[in-house]
Amino acid sequence: MGNSLIDSIGNTPLVKLSQSNIYAKLELLNHYGMKDRVAKNILLQAKKDGSLKPKATIIESSSGTMALGVAMVGTALGHEVIIVTDPRIDPLTLVKLKTLGANVHIVEKMNEHGWQGARLEYLYGLFKIFPNHFWPKQYENPNNPGAYKTLANELMKELKNIDYLVGAVGSGGSLCGIASQLKRYNKNLKVIAVDSTGSVIFNQPLKSNRLQGGLGNSIKPQNVNYDIIDEVHWLNDNEAFESTLRLGEKEKIFAGNSSGSVYTVASWISKQISGDKVIVAIFPDRGDRYHNSIYSKQFWNENNLKLGIIPNNPTMVTEGDVVESWSYSNLRGDSIEYGETKHNSIHRV
Ligand SMILES: Cc1ncc(COP(=O)(O)O)c(C=O)c1O
Repeated sequence: MGNSLIDSIGNTPLVKLSQSNIYAKLELLNHYGMKDRVAKNILLQAKKDGSLKPKATIIESSSGTMALGVAMVGTALGHEVIIVTDPRIDPLTLVKLKTLGANVHIVEKMNEHGWQGARLEYLYGLFKIFPNHFWPKQYENPNNPGAYKTLANELMKELKNIDYLVGAVGSGGSLCGIASQLKRYNKNLKVIAVDSTGSVIFNQPLKSNRLQGGLGNSIKPQNVNYDIIDEVHWLNDNEAFESTLRLGEKEKIFAGNSSGSVYTVASWISKQISGDKVIVAIFPDRGDRYHNSIYSKQFWNENNLKLGIIPNNPTMVTEGDVVESWSYSNLRGDSIEYGETKHNSIHRV
């Protein structure tokens, strides 16, 4: 007998990339993407603890994978779902959301906290109109990181030991949730966050005109557990998009830009460390909805994007440096030992 759609979330493939010590967890092969797990865990837990009441309207702010997860699980459980998003939402996601039966509200203008801030402001307005509502609150709900216990267990079933975990950060749920579980097996696990330039998560000044989606944020979510992250890498839009094209060409994985950036960072780390160390890279979503951005020549021309701009090595920076292109910073006193590579000899090319 088959499982229900909700039961079948997770158990995604783990594939070894051509750089032999990188294992990619293909969360993009969930029904809609990585956040299917989060929607499932948050909504089922909320039903259990009574915070999601019968006939309640589920309201969430998201422009992508979380929206799809909540729409799928929420409507499958029989609830009305309202998704608040902004004009950056892509047409394919809109079609999917509407097909699943979600109501989509698009805010028109950003406020002083960017699009994220404008969406939250709109959300509070909706709460007054729908007193019987449930807000999954992916930025602070512990059941967001908690949803990744299953993913960490899936990894440990296939790999004896994991030395490095590389993942994108938006709400912080996936990287911090997976890391906290994996640290139970290896307390020396190195946790590498991947962000976009112009995102405030790791204390960079906000740039609201970022082209990258998924990772990055214009606010600092509570679900980012800074204590668990060893190092952060930032890539700019051009570098992220070129990385995504390389991922398709070299590894045959058609993915979104957060997977692309994670791929570039994981590949670089794999060159710095010995071949017997195991790196896990998390790939959150598929490339389809980026067909008219990352994968469109016209989009590259319109936005003055160029191929061949990814440096061989990122620049190491310290707290307070503003980054414009691929850079990284140690968040803890004890910096990661990268074999023979001397950090201070790294220059942008
Ligand atoms: C495509 C994509 N990549 C990465 C992330 C970041 O994941 P998290 O919110 O778990 O930090 C998100 C979050 O929405 C996403 O949609």
